[in-house]
Amino acid sequence: MEQDETDFENRVIAPEYSPEDAEVENPLRPRRLSEYIGQEKVKENLSVFIEAAKQRKESLDHVLLYGPPGLGKTTLAGIIANELGVNLRVTSGPAVEKPGDLAAILTNLNPGDVLFIDEVHRLSRSVEEIMYPAMEDFALDIITGKGEMAASYHLPLPKFTLVGATTRAGQLSAPLRDRFGVVLRLELYSQQELAQIVTRSARILDIPIDPDGALEIASRSRGTPRIANRLLKRVRDFAQVVAGGKITKEAAKIGLDKLEIDELGLDANDRRLLNAMIKFYNGGPVGLETLAAAIGEEAITIEDVYEPYLMQIGFLSRTPRGRCVTVAAYRHLGLKPPAEADSGQQSLF
Ligand code: ADE
Repeated sequence: MEQDETDFENRVIAPEYSPEDAEVENPLRPRRLSEYIGQEKVKENLSVFIEAAKQRKESLDHVLLYGPPGLGKTTLAGIIANELGVNLRVTSGPAVEKPGDLAAILTNLNPGDVLFIDEVHRLSRSVEEIMYPAMEDFALDIITGKGEMAASYHLPLPKFTLVGATTRAGQLSAPLRDRFGVVLRLELYSQQELAQIVTRSARILDIPIDPDGALEIASRSRGTPRIANRLLKRVRDFAQVVAGGKITKEAAKIGLDKLEIDELGLDANDRRLLNAMIKFYNGGPVGLETLAAAIGEEAITIEDVYEPYLMQIGFLSRTPRGRCVTVAAYRHLGLKPPAEADSGQQSLF
């Protein structure tokens, strides 16, 4: 879990989800597909699958959402439940420790409910094995006792929809992945989409903002709504205290500069990563684990949090021999690139 997530997501398991809860927990979360900005392909397909399931009065097939953190996977799970008119139960892979934990959750579902499992790639093997028949046959297969005393039970479950979220679809075991009938990949958002999200959030939070102010925040949010919403709240503080209250382009610039977020949205951590690669490894290639040790971060954080955006803007490339900093990144950092630093990847900037 990342630090800035809401209580809603940190809860081991939310009892029952209703639109009112969502409102209290995080008013910025859209609750309907029509309010959700961006991810057009995902929305288009999802709306068809939801409508079809409703028309047939069936539960929706299991849905796997994958993509970098902060793009709205939990939000989409809430929307799916709302659109289907069912309850949402929320948990996460590491929170479901034992097969019995999963059995307790599954036996308490109502027909048609959505069970959202965040970080679904982190389910233990023993829990996963209970999950297969639950997903496929809506049944719990439980074995009790040992040797001659062993007995197996086949317990029917209500039909439910599992919505799994992961930042790394590749780490999901094949049998689990194959049991999701709907697989949707979330992409980083465009600046225009993020500006719309910032404008919508500002309206909900009653923050005065003008379109250029929204665009300024959007352009520094690394394609990620969670970052955009966080920056909006911090920039509001600066606008309020030092810039007359309204988030104009200038007020946004002042705030974002103070937060050390540069024009491309890189923060001190991104720059630290790039600088370490340049200073210690001549810009690469450097292996992921070596790099992680050098900057004191976990490899998984580098892969999930830093790399997607740095690769999208063409500042970092992955080669078979390791990670490399591109010429564009050297220039952005105000450093002179060595002739051999360019890995051949084109930068967007
Ligand atoms: N808030 C966070 N993500 C959002 C999205 N995709 N659409 C609207 N509001 C959001």
